[in-house]
Amino acid sequence: MAILKILQYPDERLHKTAKKVEQVTDDTRRLIRDMAETMYAAPGVGLAATQVDVHLRLFVADISETHDQLRVFINPEILASDGDEESEEGCLSVPGVYEKVCRAEKVTVRALDENGRPFTLDADGFLAVCIQHEIDHLRGKVFVEYLSQLKQTRIRAKLKKRMREIL
Ligand code: NI
Repeated sequence: MAILKILQYPDERLHKTAKKVEQVTDDTRRLIRDMAETMYAAPGVGLAATQVDVHLRLFVADISETHDQLRVFINPEILASDGDEESEEGCLSVPGVYEKVCRAEKVTVRALDENGRPFTLDADGFLAVCIQHEIDHLRGKVFVEYLSQLKQTRIRAKLKKRMREIL
């Protein structure tokens, strides 16, 4: 297993659109294991392939406190959504930034698991937020893009400054 490098906003590669996974293979499962390890090490609750510069439609998530309930979503699709709810979000690609975003309160998602088997899941609460956030990554969208232009400019400036301090 390996810890993968997570792209940091405003990296342009975060805006690429991920392609469908045509076949779930051992390579896919290796990527999933590495993504899970990277997510747990960060630590975070979700990680999309886009964030590790692999532009395939898949993400991993684990919102449990015990970090032992990994969920894998390959080629995820939202079949239905309901309600509106505003909650605070963060992202491993936008470190140190937490902002409120409005999303659907409940979603029904269809995806393949790590064995290529289809499943359908009804999610609400934090898991629903997480699923919508990760699917956005696969479309090349980062959560801060829901915020005002002013806030986005401030966030970009803050992250660029931090990047200069690290390098
Ligand atoms: Ni994110």
